[in-house]
Parts: sequence; structure tokens; C-alpha cells
Amino acid sequence: AALGGDGGRLAGRHVLVTAGPTHEPIDPVRYIANRSSGKQGYAIAAALARLGARVTLVSGPVALPTPSGVTRVDIETAQDMANAVAAALPADAAVMVAAVGDWRAETAGQKIKKGDAPPTLALSENPDILALLARSPHRPRLVIGFAAETEHVVDHATAKRTRKGADWIVANDVSGDVMGGPDNSIHLITANGVESWERMPKEAVAQRLAERIADAL
Ligand code: CTP
Ligand code: CA
Repeated sequence: AALGGDGGRLAGRHVLVTAGPTHEPIDPVRYIANRSSGKQGYAIAAALARLGARVTLVSGPVALPTPSGVTRVDIETAQDMANAVAAALPADAAVMVAAVGDWRAETAGQKIKKGDAPPTLALSENPDILALLARSPHRPRLVIGFAAETEHVVDHATAKRTRKGADWIVANDVSGDVMGGPDNSIHLITANGVESWERMPKEAVAQRLAERIADAL
């Protein structure tokens, strides 16, 4: 809980945060993943908890400590993340920071052995957790998505806001060293337009976003 007599601006609120990558298994020893470190999502969970929110953090595999005051649910695959998100509802707000694997492979039961030709991976699309949540009967009042883009950042992210039914999209330019790095450069896209924030540490992005969430709730 936050310091101070009132328990913080988000006291009594439940906020769901997803963070990190997912691991989509290929066989018992191999998986498909991505470069997400979890830093931005963990910083957001920590900032929300400092404002007094009850925070459920659904996390893919990352090398980070659990922020104090945060309830962490560890998952590996996108399907597991979808189930954990559903199980954590209801929530007043959701911040979907995770870099969810877009595709899963058919998982072999035994380790695939080297043969004459390399194996072909048959991929299928994973459920879009953010889009499902935004259209669910248990939709949190404020649904925030992230958009990882390497080009046409604002255009692509603006389209994602509408397509997924999110209230806000935090557009992330991941063309440089953002993934895994300490800083982030974001645009906040809402129904009212686009706000571009100066490049700053991920903790500062988290603090500012948590304050905005408190304003909106
Ligand atoms: N997301 C999700 N479930 C998925 C894929 C994405 O919940 N299966 C969420 C992410 O957590 C993020 C937002 O959707 O909040 C946007 O993710 P992003 O990868 O940028 O968008 P995609 O729709 O997957 O499009 P693409 O990767 O093709 O840019
Ligand atoms: Ca994606």
C-alpha cells in the first residue's frame, strides 16, 4: 500500500497488468520467444502499487524481481496468459504491456532430432488477449494496450486502438534499443488524439502513466 493516510490515489482499485514475452514451445527443449525484458510492464505494476492499487501482474518468463505489493502470476504461453487474465477479473483497469507471441507451433511430444532436412514449423495464430478483454462482458472500465512498432509508429498504433477496442494505446518505437534497454520513447494515443512524451527512463514512463490512470479512474 502507498504511504499516506488516504492509502493512495488508487486505493480500492484493482489493476491488471501483463508483462514480458511468452514462450511458445516447439518441443520439450525449444521455444519461440521475443526480446521483451518485462522492464516496462514491471515498472508500471510497481508504480500502480505505489499509488495504492491492488495489482495483479500476469508475467511471462523474465529475470526480474516481483515489485513490492504486487501479486504475480507466472505463465509461459499466450494461451496460459489468456486464461490467467480471465481468472484475474474483475478489474477496474488493465494495462496490457506483454509482448504476446502472435503464433504458436504444433508442439512435438519428444525432442525433434536432426534429420536430412530441417523441420517445418506449422504455426497457428494465438488469441488476441487485449481484443478479447476489450470486448468481454467483464471489460475493465479502462483498457490500455501497448503497440510495439518499428515504422509508421503513430499510424499503426492509432489503427490498433480502434481495431482492438482499447481506450488508450501506448505506442512504443522499438526500432532502436528500446527492447531490453532502460529508456522508452512513447506516444499516448487516446480518443482525444496523440501525446508524444520525451524519451525517458522506463520508471518515469511508468510513474506518469500510473498518474494518468489514477486521473481517469
Ligand atoms: N496483444 C495481446 N494478445 C496478442 C497479441 C497482442 O493481448 N495475442 C496485446 C499486446 O499486449 C499489446 C497489444 O496487443 O498491448 C499490441 O500488441 P502488438 O504486438 O503491437 O500488436 P499485434 O496486434 O500483435 O500486431 P503486430 O504484432 O502485427 O504489429
Ligand atoms: Ca504482435
